[in-house]
Order: sequence, then C-alpha cells, then structure tokens
Amino acid sequence: MKALTWHGKKDVRYEEVPRPEIVNPNDAIIRVTATAICGSDLHLYHDRVPSMKEGDVLGHEAMGEVVDVGDSVETLARGDRVVVPFTISCGSCWFCENDLYSLCDNSNPNAEIARKMMGHSPAGLFGYSHMMGGYAGGQAEYLRVPFADVGPQKINGDLPPEQVLFLSDVFPTGYMAAENAEVEEGDTVAVWGCGAVGQFTIQSAWMLGADRVIAIDRVPERLEMARNHGDAETINYATEGVYDRLMEMTGDRGPDRCIDAVGTDAHGTGMTATADRIKQRLHLEDDRPAVLRQAIRCCRKGGTLSVPGVYVGRADNFPIGSLMNKALTVKTGQTHVQRYLDPLLERIEEGEIDPSFVVTHQAPLAEGPELYERFNNKDDECIKVVLKP
Ligand SMILES: NC(=O)c1ccc[n+]([C@@H]2O[C@H](COP(=O)([O-])OP(=O)(O)OC[C@H]3O[C@@H](n4cnc5c(N)ncnc54)[C@H](O)[C@@H]3O)[C@@H](O)[C@H]2O)c1
Ligand SMILES: [Zn+2]
Ligand SMILES: [Zn+2]
Repeated sequence: MKALTWHGKKDVRYEEVPRPEIVNPNDAIIRVTATAICGSDLHLYHDRVPSMKEGDVLGHEAMGEVVDVGDSVETLARGDRVVVPFTISCGSCWFCENDLYSLCDNSNPNAEIARKMMGHSPAGLFGYSHMMGGYAGGQAEYLRVPFADVGPQKINGDLPPEQVLFLSDVFPTGYMAAENAEVEEGDTVAVWGCGAVGQFTIQSAWMLGADRVIAIDRVPERLEMARNHGDAETINYATEGVYDRLMEMTGDRGPDRCIDAVGTDAHGTGMTATADRIKQRLHLEDDRPAVLRQAIRCCRKGGTLSVPGVYVGRADNFPIGSLMNKALTVKTGQTHVQRYLDPLLERIEEGEIDPSFVVTHQAPLAEGPELYERFNNKDDECIKVVLKP
C-alpha cells in the first residue's frame, strides 16, 4: 500500500510500505478514507521527537471503513464507518477506567524507553515515534487499530468526513484545553496559537461560558479565522507587546485562563529565545518555552494555565517563581480523546458546531510531502490539510 513516511528532518515521502494485518485478536484494520496533518506532525517534521526511525509511517488523525476485525472484537464489523482517536487505550487498566485514556498503562509496548525519559510512560500513539509505541500511523491507505473496541467511534448517517474527522484529535484537544483551563461563566480566556488546536480551543471556551476570548498569533489568516469565525479579539505578537496589550485589555488583572496551544516549537524573540535556539542545537535544552513563559507572566493571580501544546523534554528559564507566587494552577496532557467522542459528536450532529471550518486544503495522499512543506511554511494560507488516500 502507499503511505507517508518519515525520513528525517523535513523529509516526508509517499512510498510503498507493507499493508497492515491483524496481529492481535482485538485489532481492526481500517481502509483510510480521510486523514489530516497536525501541528504535532510538525514536531516530527522538525525532528524534535526522539526515537523516530527512517520509514516510519506518519499520521494520527484518521477515519475510514473497517475492512477486517480480529476474533475478539465485539463492537465493530466490516463496513462500519469510524473515526479513530490518536490515543491507543486498552479500556481496562486503572487509567482507562478513570477516563485518563492518554495515560493508558497497557498500550505502549516500548514503555521502558518512555519511562526512562519521563518517569512513567503515557499511552501509545499512532505514528508518533518508537518511544510512544512504534505504531504505524494513519497517513496511509490502511491502518491497524489495536484495542478496536475502545477507540474507534462509529459514525452513522452521512455527515461528511470534514465534519467528523477532527474528532480523532484537534476538536477534543481544543475542548480538553478549555476544560483544563477551568473556564467558567464570565471568564476572560487568552489562547496562544491560532492553528487548528487554537481554533477549537476558542470554540470550546465559548461553549464553556467564557465572556471574552483573546487569541494570539502572528499569521494574518489564522488571526482572521479567530476573529471572524471564532468571534475572538486578537493580538498580533509580531507587532504588539503581548503582556502590555493583555494588561490593557483586562484592566491590569490579566486573563483568568491562559492556554498554550503552541508548544515546543514556539517562535520567540529577544535574548532568551536566541539562547533557547542555541541550547536546542547543542542538545542542552529540548523545548523552546517562549509561550509558556509569557502565559505564566500574563495570567491573573490565582488563574489557570492549560497546556495542550506538546512539549518533548526539558525547558530552561522556566518562571517557577511567578507560577508559585501568583498561585497558578497548571493542567496539561495528551488528550483523553475517547472521553469526548460521544458528547462532541452529539454537538456536531445537532449542528451546534461544524468543525470543517478549519479545512483550508484537501488533496490526494500522494501530495502529502508537498502539503507538509506548505503547512510547515504556512504558505498559501494553509491552516489544516485533509488528505484522501
Ligand atoms: N495535547 C494534545 O493531545 C495535542 C493534540 C494535538 C495537537 N497538540 C499540539 O498543539 C499545538 C498546536 O497544534 P496545531 O495543529 O494548532 O499547530 P499549528 O502548527 O498549526 O499552530 C501553531 C500556531 O502557533 C503559532 N505560534 C508560534 N509561536 C507563537 C507565539 N510565540 N505566540 C503565539 N502563537 C505562536 C504559529 O504561528 C501557529 O499558527 C502543537 O504543539 C501540537 O503538537 C496537542
Ligand atoms: Zn494531532
Ligand atoms: Zn488502559
């Protein structure tokens, strides 16, 4: 079959790979009909995530048709149309039973590598390095889905793929980001990053009762989407001082809830950001936490910092003094996607939200390498890419 594969920094190829087969009785095989490129894939594209290997199949946002199921699969049958969460979860460990699906204790066969780095291993993820399980991803014609009774969400009816595909990741991720921020009626919420995750975070902040949403980025069309579609006020960090603007807008209090929807590849300016870049090159620091620092500085005293943005290792110059003395709460994590599938699908079915608004590019899977480049460079006003094998 054909798939998009990783070959090192900025080298994604469309090539022939072995077609997946049932390995365990709880597997399903999906013929992928639509798959998206995520900001998380760009961390792989920049070679920031350890333990990738040449030829690894990329992708973790996929949907399609079930073409084969293992002997123990009970809830899926051939022909079912499903969206596949990016988190692989067993459904029966302590973490899964407590709805903490992205922390599943049973789905990462390489848990020891992750444990050495982080103390404990999170769940296995599709197409996201060997440390996270070494699972082939969904930017391919076919995908093997382990624990098939726990992950895939059946889609009945004829909702178009662009409306349901993002249940695999970025819609639940935006929702969990707002929930983690503890957004309540009347809050002012600041969202750093206006990629797809930022856009769904904005939508979700409104759903949870925010009074004001302020979105921060520098890419004009992303800011425009946040304003026009997301009804957010915006700050362009390339032309305005973010701290000063936020203080002005909130009568010096700072936003109640601050959300980092940017993560490890945050763009920064000034001495500290330059030091980050140098240290990253020398492997003295893994992440560039420009947004984290700024969000902590801006957040109102006693407020909440929510971090959906992905970080991979160690970050320097972390303002722990500000975090502690301002009594901030921090919540983060890979998304517990399974927790949000039913309630968010219901919102889509009821017409409360149409997630297809983020899609700017649709193309055949074969054009994947070129679209990775375009998405990375933000050429052609590219915000979200959907590929069809
Ligand atoms: N927690 C999870 O489960 C989960 C799931 C999906 C994605 N993510 C992560 O969420 C983040 C966003 O994903 P995306 O798909 O929207 O990515 P994206 O790359 O499309 O968007 C990131 C945006 O951040 C902006 N940005 C960069 N530096 C900034 C700064 N200093 N201030 C404000 N904005 C800045 C960029 O201009 C860009 O628009 C990524 O880190 C991704 O890995 C996490
Ligand atoms: Zn993703
Ligand atoms: Zn589990």
